[in-house]
Amino acid sequence: MKENLAVATLAPTFMTPNKVKGYSVDEVEKRLDAQNPIEGVEKQDLPTPALLLDLNRLENNLATMNEYAKSQSVNLRPHAKTHKCAEIAHRQIAMGALGVCTATIYEAEQMDKAGIGGILITSELVGPNKIGRLVRLTKKRPDTMAVVDSAEHATQLSEAAGTAKVDLNVLIDIDPVGRRTGVAPGETAVELAKTIDRMQNLKFCGVHGYSGASSHVVGFDARKKHSIQYMTPVIESFRKMQRDGLPAEIMSGTSTGTYNIDPALGMTELQVGSYVFMDIDYRIIGGNGENTELYEDFQQSLTVLATVISQNYSDRATLDSGLKAFATDRDFGPEVVGYRGVKYRFGGDEHGILTLDEPDPAVNLGDKVELVVPHCDPNVNLYDRMYCTRGNKVVDVWKVIGRGHG
Ligand SMILES: Cc1ncc(COP(=O)(O)O)c(C=O)c1O
Repeated sequence: MKENLAVATLAPTFMTPNKVKGYSVDEVEKRLDAQNPIEGVEKQDLPTPALLLDLNRLENNLATMNEYAKSQSVNLRPHAKTHKCAEIAHRQIAMGALGVCTATIYEAEQMDKAGIGGILITSELVGPNKIGRLVRLTKKRPDTMAVVDSAEHATQLSEAAGTAKVDLNVLIDIDPVGRRTGVAPGETAVELAKTIDRMQNLKFCGVHGYSGASSHVVGFDARKKHSIQYMTPVIESFRKMQRDGLPAEIMSGTSTGTYNIDPALGMTELQVGSYVFMDIDYRIIGGNGENTELYEDFQQSLTVLATVISQNYSDRATLDSGLKAFATDRDFGPEVVGYRGVKYRFGGDEHGILTLDEPDPAVNLGDKVELVVPHCDPNVNLYDRMYCTRGNKVVDVWKVIGRGHG
């Protein structure tokens, strides 16, 4: 990868430590309670590592996806597993999304508490604990939907729903690539859909089919080919269900990487997630526009702010942000914003090493450095809050309400 590819469109922000006020997390939040926007709190005042969200970029991303979906007459139910944040979900819905998807019942409960409905939980909820909670959530919010991929699971859902005297809305989960959950497309899927449709207290609503293997295929044409190859049998199964008289209204799936490919295939809903933040992983898949090398449909709005805590050598410096500050599931690390000749490598649980090769500007003890994250979803999950910024100003603090497990 070329040096600093990810930072090309990020405006450099050089932070001088001379006016730093140095707030703790509690102090920032106290100031937030007292006044909104937070008077006088700048990025450099924040305790690090801190997760930063550039609101101008976020808003651009939301608008871009929204306009595209409208232009294709396809609905949006964006995936909240990416942001786990009520404020972002509310903005997505205010712009026209039907609701949000969640990966877990815990995320769904947190979204519900924050006043968000229209929730589709995209992983199978199995066992009395999770099924019981789905039943309770559906009693409160009858538009909640869940996915199912076997007759045995459907029977469990049907029995729990019958006992609770509620109807559960279900989508059949079809696995396009044989990758994780879901039933194979074709006759197996159609037969299972018919079985589900006959079950008491289950309301069959359509198909969930997510081709995660297509999302990061490098090169737009290759990605398009991949998604068409694997999604076509899923959508054909959906159409067959309709032809056979099943009440299949929803065909939901699609990632940020295929948002401009799948609608033409016949999706009725997009469950795109990462577009709100973008990350290095997505930026390098290549786009469909003039720049085919980088994927620039959406802007990188999410960074981690770190502090240089040791600078004793000319060729390296040490940050306070290491394995606990970034998701480590990719074979590349974070990218430094706004510097030439500076690269990051992991240096341990709490430390990151900056390697310096004629750095411009110079890297000094105490400097604040912003880094683009390798993979946004698991990175957000490491933080309790996102500090929302406009330029250098911190204007809000949003909680990551769905993080962890529950
Ligand atoms: C089931 C499901 N739907 C949608 C998404 C959103 O994909 P992306 O974040 O790539 O847009 C994911 C992400 O992993 C997913 O697992």
